[in-house]
Amino acid sequence: MSISVGPAGQSRDELRGEDRDAPLIPADRLAPFVLVTALFFLWGVPNNFNDILIRQFMKSFEINRLQAGLVQFAFYMGYFLLAMPAAQFMKRAGYKAGILVGLCLFGAGCILFWPAAIIGQYWFFLMALFVIASGLAFLETASSPFIAQLGPPETAAQRLISRITSAKSRAAVCLTGGSSPEGLYRLLAEAPWRNEVPWDRVHWFMGDDRFVPETDPLSNMGMARRLFLDKTGAPRGNIHAIPTNASDPESAANLYQNTLREFYGAEQLDLARPLFDLVLMGVGPDGHTASLFPQSHALDEKNRWVVGVPKAGMEPLVPRVTLTFPALASTREMLFIADGAGKREILRRVFSGEDLPAARAHADGDLVWLLDRAAAPEAR
Ligand code: 6PG
Repeated sequence: MSISVGPAGQSRDELRGEDRDAPLIPADRLAPFVLVTALFFLWGVPNNFNDILIRQFMKSFEINRLQAGLVQFAFYMGYFLLAMPAAQFMKRAGYKAGILVGLCLFGAGCILFWPAAIIGQYWFFLMALFVIASGLAFLETASSPFIAQLGPPETAAQRLISRITSAKSRAAVCLTGGSSPEGLYRLLAEAPWRNEVPWDRVHWFMGDDRFVPETDPLSNMGMARRLFLDKTGAPRGNIHAIPTNASDPESAANLYQNTLREFYGAEQLDLARPLFDLVLMGVGPDGHTASLFPQSHALDEKNRWVVGVPKAGMEPLVPRVTLTFPALASTREMLFIADGAGKREILRRVFSGEDLPAARAHADGDLVWLLDRAAAPEAR
């Protein structure tokens, strides 16, 4: 589904769902796709050679059937012993590095057949087979997830990385709470994504938070810290949490507004110089976004960047602190993430132009909705 008309009055908006007509592999990723697919043949060949090798070894060496069976043993021990370390290695270094290590081991194993043939020792051949199989363990562990990752580029993680890396110096990302971004946050804590974030120059803010300590399970910043910020190289000074330890939500809002203004270096937002590179947003079942609930006065705020929300419009019914529309709009990209069938009805209402907070949200830069197939309302 790809609908080019967004919520009423926002002609630049883009609606992106999972595109049913999109090619499986985008054209610019065809070459890596073909190369990685070719690896499947690469490990099929040595697997089929084992039976031939057993027959040849029985002719060349004085070995019995049991000893000849050690060919299969050496081969599958390679898989057995190396598959888990390969997975651990790729968790840290990424799939591409895994494929390279696999190819090197595979090549080294093949080359070892040369000295093995010169020395004429059976055990040397077995060792060479073990090295080949170790390489294959790396290749087989890396290839399938790597291929799956070559899909269309419109994923939240890719959009985030691309916004961050295209920022000239420091980058500012405004995070969101709720359950929708949890998958994205987990991805950022793992290879290959974590290796692609230049942690030192990214600053992390929060679009809204519940007025609870960060240790409380309801805290949005607490969740972001647990899922990725604390697990990665994000410097502490680059994490700008809403100060929920202030005396009340209103004071917290004022303090956070000062933090934002200090970071931005001015008290007025300039259209040509957005505050954020990326603002993540979610949508609640009542159409709220950030902590901007239907019928709340905060929806009409034009001057303040952050306001206190003494009474939340829905569960969890704790006071909140939220950025306002003008502050959230000051971004190169606003990215809404919504998934699951539970979001379909509210998204239908938002996209049909009903006056709901999520429909009022706008961005000075691009406004992108990233939906999964279950959440996407039928195109009309
Ligand atoms: C919050 C959020 C809120 C959230 C939506 C969607 O603190 O509650 O910032 O705006 O994004 O309610 O929440 P889910 O992703 O859990 O559906």
